Amino acid sequence: MKLKDKVNLGPAGLVLFLSCWANSGASFAAEPLFVQRVESATPSREAIGKAEEQVREHKDVKFREKMAVPPFHKRMEPPLKEGETYCQGCHRPQPHSKKLRTRSFLNMHSRYIACETCHFRPEDVRLEYRWFDYAARQPAAADGGRFRTGRNLDNSVLIDGKFKIAPFHRGEPAFALPGTAFAERVGREWQEGDLAVRARLKARLHAPLSKEGPACAKCHTEDSPLLDLAALGADSRQAAAIRRHVIPQFFGRYQSDDDRLKIIDILR
Ligand code: HEC
Ligand code: HEC
Ligand code: HEC
Repeated sequence: MKLKDKVNLGPAGLVLFLSCWANSGASFAAEPLFVQRVESATPSREAIGKAEEQVREHKDVKFREKMAVPPFHKRMEPPLKEGETYCQGCHRPQPHSKKLRTRSFLNMHSRYIACETCHFRPEDVRLEYRWFDYAARQPAAADGGRFRTGRNLDNSVLIDGKFKIAPFHRGEPAFALPGTAFAERVGREWQEGDLAVRARLKARLHAPLSKEGPACAKCHTEDSPLLDLAALGADSRQAAAIRRHVIPQFFGRYQSDDDRLKIIDILR
């Protein structure tokens, strides 16, 4: 419902409007793009079946206290742990464990790059990447001082986990935040639901997400990189140092060497 439709409503219409608002809170246009995509997701049977297996194996130990439904008056308060993304309510702080080669780099990146920057990359829209202050729960101005790469003394800047590079859509944050109505509703469903409910919920939540993030070279490249480092505040020296960093460059080669190895294995 558009705002102007609201203006000429009589009392009955107003009640109708308000109840629509309450019922459709999550699909309301002002919701972040990720939330809209979750709300409209229709996962396949296969995806739900797979999710059921995962949820059955998923240990709720991982599922931390923070996701518990907060008392009503606390609804909009910041999450208990500063700098945490919505995803970290269910995933461990170091969520990457499967791939030995990349996991420590990805876990380190998660301190200054939001999960959604790498995992929420819908193909049909253009996202921009900006700093977001998870403690203040608002966008933060560009600031090259937050980058450690390309300085005279590398790594002399401590990572302040509350600032992360996060996706924006039409100037608005494209991701969910802990403590919002959406997060509460999901948390409640997840805690109270049986296996079928949780499986469906897992499938819907992850339908708009990519299982894998972008390759290292998507960001560490000169050739149309994912992030506009200048818009994030990096000067040209910093941007060049990040884009040409030798470690991710090496990773690109290393991976293809590995592919060759596998072919040799097959031929053996
Ligand atoms: C309600 C809990 C919950 C939330 C919130 C959640 N996840 Fe998950 N996620 C799971 C479960 C359960 C799995 C299955 C694997 C496991 O047990 O860890 C999973 C698996 C994944 C996987 C592996 C691929 C797949 O789909 O199985 C990725 C990647 C992932 N999540 C990313 C995210 C990101 C990014 C967010 C935030 C936008 C997020 N998750 C939010 C519960 C959650
Ligand atoms: C810099 C990009 C990047 C960021 C940031 C990132 N991921 Fe990932 N993620 C990846 C890639 C790439 C993979 C595929 C596995 C690999 O290459 O190691 C992956 C895989 C995963 C998996 C599958 C399990 C595993 O061990 O690989 C989960 C779950 C996951 N990510 C969750 C998250 C969550 C939660 C966050 C935020 C706290 C996050 N990711 C932040 C790039 C990223
Ligand atoms: C979404 C974009 C993105 C992806 C994908 C990405 N990086 Fe980075 N990476 C960055 C940014 C931005 C920095 C600069 C951080 C800073 O200077 O504080 C960086 C810095 C680094 C650094 C140096 C600083 C540090 O934190 O030690 C290394 C090494 C690195 N990345 C390796 C990798 C590897 C390996 C991969 C793939 C597994 C990868 N990156 C994937 C964006 C990315």
